[in-house]
Amino acid sequence: MAKRALITGITGQDGSYLAEHLLDLGYQVWGVLRRDSDPATSRIAHLVDDLSFTRAEFDDSASLVAAVERARPDEIYNLAGTSYVPTTWQHAELTTEVNGMGVLRVLEAIRVVCGLDESAAGSGDIRFYQASSSEMFGKVAETPQHETTIFHPRSPYGVAKTYGHYITRNYRESFGMYAVSGILFNHESPRRGTGFVTRKITLAAANIKLGHQDELHLGNLDAQRDWGYAGDYVKAMHLMLQQPIPTDYVIGTGTMHSVQETARIAFEAVDLDWRDHVVVDPDLIRPAEVETLCANPTKAHTELGWKPTLSFEELIQTMAESDLRRLTAG
Ligand code: GDD
Repeated sequence: MAKRALITGITGQDGSYLAEHLLDLGYQVWGVLRRDSDPATSRIAHLVDDLSFTRAEFDDSASLVAAVERARPDEIYNLAGTSYVPTTWQHAELTTEVNGMGVLRVLEAIRVVCGLDESAAGSGDIRFYQASSSEMFGKVAETPQHETTIFHPRSPYGVAKTYGHYITRNYRESFGMYAVSGILFNHESPRRGTGFVTRKITLAAANIKLGHQDELHLGNLDAQRDWGYAGDYVKAMHLMLQQPIPTDYVIGTGTMHSVQETARIAFEAVDLDWRDHVVVDPDLIRPAEVETLCANPTKAHTELGWKPTLSFEELIQTMAESDLRRLTAG
């Protein structure tokens, strides 16, 4: 019988790539949609006929229990929540509610549906993946960062993700659940939201090339990140749920690049010079910045056999070319 997966956040970049990957593997894939009358499903439009949907809200435990009962999944991938860091200072409470408490509510829904309590040994029958983030490392204690590097989150987003990470581990230790966190470093693609810096840059480079705009306003050009391809990272999520023993993994490329380098490569991909167009805008500097992030993905290489397939340069070039093609086609 086909395995069943339930994905929260299925309409996002990662949700769409993960749904594709699981369908390719023969899974029956369910997506959690919010109770909007008109959810934004453009990233999964090409998949909707192959997917099943159920509705739930992250601040409504009963709706989450009902979603888990309805889908009866073998695996749950919790990708929902706020992912855009800078606005979480304005919405700290909401961010905590969804990115922190939301994780607890999904874990509780699994516990209720599987009938697990403190005395229950074993994992029940649902495996749980939590989308943890390298933002938890924040003001980094060491470079590169690995699974036991201490956390020092620098945004309400990072703090809420850290709660989600610890509560996932706690439910694994308390109830014997197969519950794991993937500590994913930045991962991008042509489906990336347009506010994130890579896509903001590639889209602007394409728009400038076509004469639609002249300037691109950016914040901290010196920030460095370990940027990889989202299509590779969702494969790591799946692998994490197929292991004999549940444990957490860092996923990244192990290389670090600056925002400035991203701009150089993106503009070069459309035959422009970034220095003619980029303007530093102090309003885009964050109240507390994460200056550098770089993964040590050795554990994932060794235990999962996972490796990224796209280099940073290939990734940014692919995104810039995709944006130019899309805009040229209208
Ligand atoms: N968004 C944005 N816009 N970032 C800018 C800009 C700008 O105009 N100018 C400079 N930056 C810098 C930010 O200050 C940050 O240091 C870096 O570019 C990356 O910003 P984002 O692309 O917004 O990503 P992020 O690193 O804050 O967060 C992403 O990665 C996390 C994993 O580390 C998100 O995908 C998070 O959801 C994810 O958890």
